[in-house]
Amino acid sequence: MQTTNGAFPTEELRGRFARARRVCVLTGAGVSAESGIPTFRGGGGAAVWKGLPFDVISSAEMVERDLQAVWEWFDFRREVIRVVRPNPAHEALARWQDLFEDFTLVTQNIDGLHQAAGSSEVIELHGNIWRARCVMCGRLEHLSHDHSQMRSPRCTNCEGEMRPDVVLFGEIVPPEAFERAMLKAQACELFFVVGTSALVYPAAAIPEMAQTAGAFVVEINPELTPLSGFCNEVINGKAGEILPLFDAR
Ligand code: OAD
Repeated sequence: MQTTNGAFPTEELRGRFARARRVCVLTGAGVSAESGIPTFRGGGGAAVWKGLPFDVISSAEMVERDLQAVWEWFDFRREVIRVVRPNPAHEALARWQDLFEDFTLVTQNIDGLHQAAGSSEVIELHGNIWRARCVMCGRLEHLSHDHSQMRSPRCTNCEGEMRPDVVLFGEIVPPEAFERAMLKAQACELFFVVGTSALVYPAAAIPEMAQTAGAFVVEINPELTPLSGFCNEVINGKAGEILPLFDAR
């Protein structure tokens, strides 16, 4: 496989994009970086909340030990994200859903910015910070962006405790979401992996699955990642600058 490095899509890739019928995109924190949300490995993951490191406060163990503290941390994170707007990368991907016969957007992000930009069907591998889930019956509750509704401490269905509907350290990715992402990746002709360090599994395995099944895999990231070596094309640039180039008239 030929890897092309550059800051623009090649003619070959533009041709593939124009002809493609089935396209799949996997995004990570880098897609939201230009909206002002720090990436995990670019500093966000080093955050400390009330003396607890990020991977402790955001862990399955903490849900067991002190769910209230976990909520305080996620309430704080929602306050930060509430004022953040989608950037040209989210907007481009929202347009792409109308360009292809079959378009799938898979994200590791929990910020909801793809949906805020207009993407209607997003496979969320790590959940969504704007949802709560009952630990007993699994009932989901949408958390309002504008404080118009208070978060329910208990499930209105079964009185179980509510927790953030996000995948925490020590938890597995929802199997149904992963399965759907994998099937779409294996069925597409063109696969984009955008703004992820590709260090966290199982999400990081998806681009390789796509390629093994025959897709042309493109990485968009200002830095090289463990995936760069096998991608068919690597575009070293920012998602918000590169993605809009594809459907620019
Ligand atoms: P990382 O923080 O690991 O990686 C972010 C990637 O985005 C890096 O490769 C950066 O080079 C790249 N990047 C930065 N700015 C960019 C830009 N403007 N355009 C494009 N790329 C840019 O974030 P993820 O790979 O998303 O999981 O992290 C994966 C998972 O690790 C997260 O979902 C989270 C964390 O543990 C959970 O919380 C379950």
